[in-house]
This record gives sequence, C-alpha cells and structure tokens, in this order.
Amino acid sequence: MWGGRFASGPAAVMEAINASIDFDKKLYTQDIRGSLAHSAMLAETGIISAEDQKKIADGLNTILSEIEEGRFTFSRKLEDIHMNIEARLAELIGPAAGRLHTARSRNDQVAVDFRLWVKEELIRTREALRALIEAFVTRAEEHAATVMPGFTHLQTAQPVTFGHHCMAYVEMFGRDLSRVNDAIERMDESPLGAAALAGTGFPIDRHRTAKSLGFREPTRNSLDSVSDRDFALEFLSLASICAMHLSRLAEEIVIWSTPQFGFIRLSDSFSTGSSIMPQKKNPDAAELVRAKTGRINGDLIALLTVMKGLPLSYSKDMQEDKETVFDAAEALDLAIAAMTGMISDMEVQKAAMKKAAGSGYSTATDLADWLVREAGLPFRDAHHATGRAVALAETKKVGLEKLTLDELQGINPAITNAIFDVLSVDASVRSRASFGGTAPQEVRKQIRYWKKRLKKA
Ligand code: ARG
Repeated sequence: MWGGRFASGPAAVMEAINASIDFDKKLYTQDIRGSLAHSAMLAETGIISAEDQKKIADGLNTILSEIEEGRFTFSRKLEDIHMNIEARLAELIGPAAGRLHTARSRNDQVAVDFRLWVKEELIRTREALRALIEAFVTRAEEHAATVMPGFTHLQTAQPVTFGHHCMAYVEMFGRDLSRVNDAIERMDESPLGAAALAGTGFPIDRHRTAKSLGFREPTRNSLDSVSDRDFALEFLSLASICAMHLSRLAEEIVIWSTPQFGFIRLSDSFSTGSSIMPQKKNPDAAELVRAKTGRINGDLIALLTVMKGLPLSYSKDMQEDKETVFDAAEALDLAIAAMTGMISDMEVQKAAMKKAAGSGYSTATDLADWLVREAGLPFRDAHHATGRAVALAETKKVGLEKLTLDELQGINPAITNAIFDVLSVDASVRSRASFGGTAPQEVRKQIRYWKKRLKKA
C-alpha cells in the first residue's frame, strides 16, 4: 500500500509484531459496512463516479460472501482486515478499488469499525442482562415468602426472603443495564471522515455516513475521533462491574450448593461430577463465572495501560485495543448466559433455608425491637437485655423461642407471652415492611416495579 516510499519489505519479526489480521478479521462485517457507506457518500457528493461506486459496492458484497462462506484467504502480509479487504477488492474490480480510500484513512476506518462492533456488543449485553433480570424476577415471584437467613460478615444476621435476595441482584444487574444504555448513548457518534487526523479537503458529508451507519451524529473533533478509545474502555469498565456482580452471585451459588448449606440444588445441566468421587456434584459453571471476572478485570487494566500516556492522535499502540475487548466480550456473554441458566434451573430447598433462617439467634433484633415497642425501653437497654437472653439460650443450647416465659421475665419482667409471636422467622420477615424491606408484600412491590420497568426499556 505504501510501495512508493519503501525500497524493501518488512523483516519477518516486523510482520509478526505488526500484523493484526489474526484478531481484527472479526471486524469484517463492520469494515465492509463502513466502506459501503463511505463509497455511497463519495458518489453522492460527486467525489467518485456512480459507475466506480457500483463496482466498489458489488466487489465489497462479493467479498462479504467470500468471507462468510470461508472462501477468503486472509494474509498477514496485508497486515489487517482493512488492507486484506481492499487488496481483494483491487483483484476483483481493478483500478476503481483505488478510489474507495479517497478522503479516508485507516485511522478513522478502524475507529468506525471498532465502534460499530462495540455498539453491537453492547446491544447483545443489554439483551443478555434483560434475560438474566427476568430469570431473577421469576424466581423472586415464586419465592417472595420463602424465608432464608440474611447475612452480614457471612454470619447469620436476620431472616430475609429468598425473593428479596433475588431482587437485590435485580437491582445490581439493573444498574449494569443502565450503564450499558449510558455507554451506547455516549458512544453513538461516527468518527468516519476524520481521515488520518485533520479532516479532509474533499467535500465529504459526514452527517450522511453517520446516519447510514446508524450513529446519532458524527464526532465533532477529528483529532479526538482517531485517538479516542473511551467507548472500548467504557465497555470494559461496565463489563468489569457486571462481572464483579456475577462473581459475587457465583460465590453464593458455590456456598449455597454445598451439602453443609444445602440451600439450592443445581440442575445436572450446570454441574459436573467427579471421576473418582461418585457422590460429587460440582458447581463448575458458577466457579468459571467467578473466574471469568479475573480475565475481564485484566482486560480493562490492559487497555487502560495501553492508552495512558499516548500523545494525540493515533499511535499504533491502539491496535492492541481489540483483543482485550473481544476477550472480555466473549467471557461476559458466556458468564451472563451461564448464570441465567443456573438461576432458572436451580432447585430452591425451602426447608433447609427455613431451618437455617431460625438458627444463629436470627430473631434477636426482633426481641430487642419488641422491648422498645411494647415495654418502652430505650433501644440500647433492649439490646443489652436481648444479649443476655441470647447468652442464656446459648448456655442451654436452644433457640431464643425455646426459652421459657419465666426465664425471659428473669431478664426483663415486662416480657409477656406475646413475645413468642415475634420470635418466629415468618413473623420477623413479615414485620420488616418498611419501603424496600424484606416483608413479602414489599418484595412483591419490587417485583411489580421491575416488571413495569422491563416492559418500558
Ligand atoms: N490495524 C490498525 C489498528 O488496528 C489500523 C490502523 C492503522 N493505522 C496506521 N496509521 N497505521 O489500529
């Protein structure tokens, strides 16, 4: 492509370090779409003839089928996807191919191709997240009143419902979804026509190409257009945050599915056995989701580090942007899909959850609250009295509700039989009806809110 200036070809290592075709061939559709839009605009503005444009468009469509049908030979000598396609176009249509690159550089070409790809990936992520959220909403509806222990420090804290726990994840993945939408909104600008860095002297119509490629508008500054990779970094950032959420969930699934917890049973389709221990059912899918987070975080740090310190505008360093994004996208798509499957399929072990919910003195706060409400104690005094009740129950190795009225009155004489109504886990859960609380009716409100919101978005 630059034979005019060069007397000899590149060294073998140069070719090896320079070529990106092995990974950027993934951009072939976006590259062809970009070229079709560019050439159509060149013809409309009279920069190239309609006749040449027709040849170019036909040639590009032929190349598209060749690639799709596996009949295209990619060459490392031709460096990247842009030059592979352009060289093939020249073979197919002759000199007219040389007119396609008028008023364009690979710098704006790769920027537009990559933006198109990232935008499509964001749309895929949006759909995947919606499916995951829907899976959670369905489980939450089934289990709005299923009691389980709520934890802080992974120590039993207060009873909650499984539906409430599911809806906590809906909030998390809902924020991920809104980050996806924000990212799309911000990146929805076309860099095509920024040319190498300074714009072009040809009378191009950037609004036209932006529109035909489905972007809201063209980017406003040509230097920024070819040197900006924020859209890729935003994808990696939101992917990292989402992966962090998935990983927390994966960790809970791993814990919940142990025989010691026994809160859930994973379906056979999302677990594996052991080649030596016949009793085993391992939560491999959850473990791998947890691990994918490491790759995705690594991809974010890798690209941030590539970009830091790069002077404006384009530098070849930026060619290293693609593998990180492709890798993270593949990992994220898989992780969300696997999680959606696991959540939909898992069997919830209500009895085990309920039993665990009642252990660990989980209703101690309810006892303290009762003393405040019914006996007029200041909360700190009620806390102290309840602490004594827990200590007594502990020495007797029983639950709070198994202490006798006499024993409880020994701690505070104001206690009456009515206390036993609040010491059950169901009563505890029912009482927490503050906005956003774990009471089944509140959980059902959250579910209704999300169903409506999912319909709108
Ligand atoms: N393969 C290159 C990349 O991915 C395309 C842009 C090359 N531009 C250049 N001036 N060498 O970044």
